[in-house]
Amino acid sequence: MDLQLAGKRALITGSNSGIGAEIAKTLAKEGVKIIITGRNQERAFQVAEAIMQEGGEAIAVSGDLSTVEGVRQIAEGADVAFQGIDILINNAGGTEDLKAWMDTSPQEWEKTYQANVIAPVRLIQLLVPQMKKQGWGRIIQIASVAATRPLAVGADYAAAKAALVNLKEKN
Ligand SMILES: NC(=O)c1ccc[n+]([C@@H]2O[C@H](COP(=O)([O-])OP(=O)(O)OC[C@H]3O[C@@H](n4cnc5c(N)ncnc54)[C@H](OP(=O)(O)O)[C@@H]3O)[C@@H](O)[C@H]2O)c1
Repeated sequence: MDLQLAGKRALITGSNSGIGAEIAKTLAKEGVKIIITGRNQERAFQVAEAIMQEGGEAIAVSGDLSTVEGVRQIAEGADVAFQGIDILINNAGGTEDLKAWMDTSPQEWEKTYQANVIAPVRLIQLLVPQMKKQGWGRIIQIASVAATRPLAVGADYAAAKAALVNLKEKN
């Protein structure tokens, strides 16, 4: 498949495992330069190494997206490596546990919002100005079917993913 993305630079959050790692490997085969992220540095290096062994281009940048400093660390690492980003994929997120309404504390709601909404918002605000300046950019949000079809458990997760799919900007 040729998605005409060769040479573009993609930052995929939560790409040291799971869905994010598979997105990274798929885009690398399209010739996209990849930034692998996650808190676990060793796993990030392993995924970047696997991409390079297949002939792709990738670097690993670790950081915790639940902190302002961690988000900045990831954005700056990407900038140093590839002098900018064309594609941001906000994939990191999820939830530790899908709990019933009354068993989910406000602190857990806050944590789920931090991971699924605030971290993507921080990255968007950091990276979009540069995308606008260069005249090209794409942002992809990885949500969940729970955003529109919530379950009886995990109201915090469904509401956070619903917020994520509702992030729009007027042109
Ligand atoms: N799996 C599913 O069935 C499913 C279904 C619907 C939607 N989704 C969505 O798809 C996305 C990926 O899901 P997944 O199942 O692949 O997740 P996963 O296997 O749990 O991977 C989560 C990734 O995010 C990273 N991460 C988590 N918290 C982080 C933090 N604070 N800072 C930086 N990185 C962090 C993890 O790396 P570290 O632990 O090293 O930080 C890991 O790379 C999520 O947004 C999830 O809600 C998944």
